[in-house]
Amino acid sequence: MKLLVCGGAGFIGSTFVRVRLRDHGDEVTVLDKLTYAGRRENLHDVIDEIRFVHGAIEDPVAVADAVAGCDAIVNFAAETHVDRSISGPEAFIVTNMQGTHVLLEAARERGLRYLQVSTDEVYGSIEDGSFTESSPLAPSSPYSATKTGADLLVSSYFHTYGLEAVICRGSNNYGPYQYPEKMIPLMVLNALAGDPLPVYGDGRNVRNWLYVEDFGRGIGHALTHGAPGEAYNCGGPDECENLEAVGRIVELCGVDESLIEFVTDRPGHDRRYSLSSEKLTALGWEPRMRFDEGLALTVQWYRDNAWWWEPIRSGAYRDYYERQYGRALKR
Ligand code: NAD
Ligand code: TYD
Repeated sequence: MKLLVCGGAGFIGSTFVRVRLRDHGDEVTVLDKLTYAGRRENLHDVIDEIRFVHGAIEDPVAVADAVAGCDAIVNFAAETHVDRSISGPEAFIVTNMQGTHVLLEAARERGLRYLQVSTDEVYGSIEDGSFTESSPLAPSSPYSATKTGADLLVSSYFHTYGLEAVICRGSNNYGPYQYPEKMIPLMVLNALAGDPLPVYGDGRNVRNWLYVEDFGRGIGHALTHGAPGEAYNCGGPDECENLEAVGRIVELCGVDESLIEFVTDRPGHDRRYSLSSEKLTALGWEPRMRFDEGLALTVQWYRDNAWWWEPIRSGAYRDYYERQYGRALKR
């Protein structure tokens, strides 16, 4: 296929690009604004095999340039961090909602297939059991609310214009190339540097962990096997409380658990996410990586790839970290 991958310089988008080139021989154009989270380094090993367009999804001119010759649009481009959406929601509305609208228009005008990458956070928090695709949408943060708004707009383009649009909702991803504002890489890099490990609230919030390559394959599966107008959940095989995940990181990094520090909880913090993925597994997808093994691989990747994260930890991220956590990183 000839794919336009929006947000392909981010964590999951760059993994998806690798999976599609390696396993499917697709032709790929990446359109990416290169925000703080989007980096050419994420595509360093495949940059010569793709077309890269530097631009924003909310810019119809950039989108028209990037989409020329493509059969389908896969949209990863988003502002993605819940904490940043709490301190500054505006960028989330522009990218996640307006940007999605511009892409939908581009797909509609050209009759292209469209895949929207979405999240379990659109369903909100669940105490017991798991969400299916027909569960009510009840987002809690500006991040998840803008992702939900985008999902509803995508569905409306199927119902109103017959656009061949599919939604794929993933659970919490982890793996190589994840920006260290998210819990797992933040804890790994802090542990390796001897910085405190800031656990929100009581640390008993539960997340359903999905290895990033498994999500990349799941999105590809929904793109090619999914029915237009449908949403597909794509959840990881294991869930665990944050404190347990941080405990495993402490062990894998060989540091003392006294580095763990309980800090003020995130406002509106969702207690538990859980997805039932039966609809996607019925189409032939399944997750391959268990959390224990994937976490060990991830810690090893961060140990081996300081070239990737050192420029982040020594740059503007330091200011972000200080604002967010009220203390400076050691180094
Ligand atoms: P990320 O923050 O690592 O990457 C986002 C990418 O989008 C970056 O390359 C960034 O430069 C680009 N981008 C941002 N605004 C843009 C704009 N206006 N125009 C063009 N490009 C823009 O995010 P990620 O973790 O890779 O998430 C990718 C997608 O997957 C998002 O849609 C997110 O909602 C969804 N998702 C993420 C997770 C997770 O655990 N990280 C789980 C489920 C779903
Ligand atoms: P995060 O990686 O931000 O993903 P999301 O909020 O989208 O689930 O956070 C995962 C969990 O870890 C969430 O319950 C919040 C918690 N967390 C901490 O305890 N400390 C931190 O410094 C961060 C970033 C997250």
